[in-house]
Amino acid sequence: MTEILWTPALETGDPRIDEQHQALIQAFNDLATALAGNRGWEANGKTLRFLVSYTIQHFQMEERLMEEAKYPGASRHRQLHHELVVKVSGLLQAYTQGSANLSPEVLGFLEGWLMEHILGEDRRLAEFLRERSVP
Ligand SMILES: [Fe+2]
Ligand SMILES: [Fe+2]
Repeated sequence: MTEILWTPALETGDPRIDEQHQALIQAFNDLATALAGNRGWEANGKTLRFLVSYTIQHFQMEERLMEEAKYPGASRHRQLHHELVVKVSGLLQAYTQGSANLSPEVLGFLEGWLMEHILGEDRRLAEFLRERSVP
């Protein structure tokens, strides 16, 4: 089952963002482990629910930073966040209603999204924040 290994290559350089990314990846890995361990619908749902709520919390934090810094790429970044939240919220709802399974494809999609987003959008944001904070 897919697990994401945290490496310094994933660092954006902003400790506030990086700390949450580590926790986010941990939450993703917990879900992957739960699914691989066949812990059952209830336990898997719990790890999925946590991943979704932590993702939302993390996005809100980044969006706060963007707003405070008047980040020019904010609307695109926010839109990408929004699209993922819609997707994972739908997934959680479907899972809760018993109409969807958490397939390896779903995990693979999430992993790909997270990696691409962290290495692209989040890095660009962190770079902007760093440049702005230099006196
Ligand atoms: Fe982001
Ligand atoms: Fe992020």
